Amino acid sequence: MLPIQPARFLEDLHNLRGFGAAGLGKGVVRPAYSEADIAARGWLAARITEAGLRVHVDPVGSVFGLAEGPSLLLGSHSDSQPEGGWLDGALGVIAALEIARAAREAGGPAVSVVSFQDEEGRFGVTTGSAVWSGSLTLKAADLLVDRDGVSFGAARASMPGRSEMFVDPSQFSGFLEMHIEQGPVLDRESEAIGVVDAIVGIRDMKITFEGEQNHAGTTPMQGRRDAFQAVSRFNTLLADRFANVVTPRTVWTIGHISLHPNASSIVPGRATFSMQWRDGDADRLGRMEQIIRDTAQEVASSGGFELRFGPMLGLEPVKMDTRLRGALETAAEAEVPGRWRVMPSGALHDATNLSGLMPVAMLFVPSIGGISHAFGEDTAEADLVTGLSVLAGAVAALG
Ligand code: GLV
Ligand code: MN
Ligand code: MN
Repeated sequence: MLPIQPARFLEDLHNLRGFGAAGLGKGVVRPAYSEADIAARGWLAARITEAGLRVHVDPVGSVFGLAEGPSLLLGSHSDSQPEGGWLDGALGVIAALEIARAAREAGGPAVSVVSFQDEEGRFGVTTGSAVWSGSLTLKAADLLVDRDGVSFGAARASMPGRSEMFVDPSQFSGFLEMHIEQGPVLDRESEAIGVVDAIVGIRDMKITFEGEQNHAGTTPMQGRRDAFQAVSRFNTLLADRFANVVTPRTVWTIGHISLHPNASSIVPGRATFSMQWRDGDADRLGRMEQIIRDTAQEVASSGGFELRFGPMLGLEPVKMDTRLRGALETAAEAEVPGRWRVMPSGALHDATNLSGLMPVAMLFVPSIGGISHAFGEDTAEADLVTGLSVLAGAVAALG
């Protein structure tokens, strides 16, 4: 067993939360390339150096701690949603750091660490690892814009200490990512560990309805081309049209909407909104896309709106590697016999992108009340430490 130090691990996790701490409880506001994110990555780089690893910040600002020669890669991301919790991503990064330290102290195996940039999709979908894996070119990524119109290219230029070189993935024998579940299952069933079998696929695009801006008092209801009403009608129709295609696990979300000019006394002339959908079956994602496009077109044609679709972003569903997953299952059974399960991930992870480069596997610890992407996200510290022990057990076995 590796000589992991739970107290040192928890202290680093709390220290990382100090960058961007917000809200009551343990909330964090640390979106990609924000001041807090850049400062957190600087702190992490110092901890990596202290751990005896070589720091490499790649062209997009993903921070690696590299062991000499071939190694196993562990990590996740340290950026957050616009309102997030202290564990989403941070847990996997700090667990990786602790295991790399313990492994060095034990004389092996060689473990490298990573915190990917923009996993939370300020610009794209898992942008940093998507670029590293080659599924998104740096040129295409640079053109992506956030909801305020800032480009990825401009944002990454603000991050100091970047190398012009990407890390060569052939030095890694595999990738293990520890994460909070972000759903209700483990907490509800009083189980300690989830070993992931597959990660769902996702599609994400912006849609715009352009109608006619006008006076909210004098423009008769009949004949208005109100862009908000177009979104509302689209949303209602969509639920109906999806009914025969989706399963109870399929999800879709309109999470961001921008109305122009967004004022009480003006009939909105333009609405741009995010349309995101997720499922474990790539065919179903495709069928849903067709329904979304057709329904939006129908709303636009019948109401006299101009319709625009933004670029389609997405990740395919992926399965975890059998050998790495087996090592996590064996370690879970040794640590918490009968109190773990195999389960799919409905959240996205950098592991999806890395599955194109090397074998990958993931483990989950419970999320209290199933809350995540919210300030209320939390996990009992005993469960965090159990997850660390299972990860360490798997690394020792694989090494
Ligand atoms: C990543 O955090 C996701 O949106 O699942
Ligand atoms: Mn995450
Ligand atoms: Mn997240």
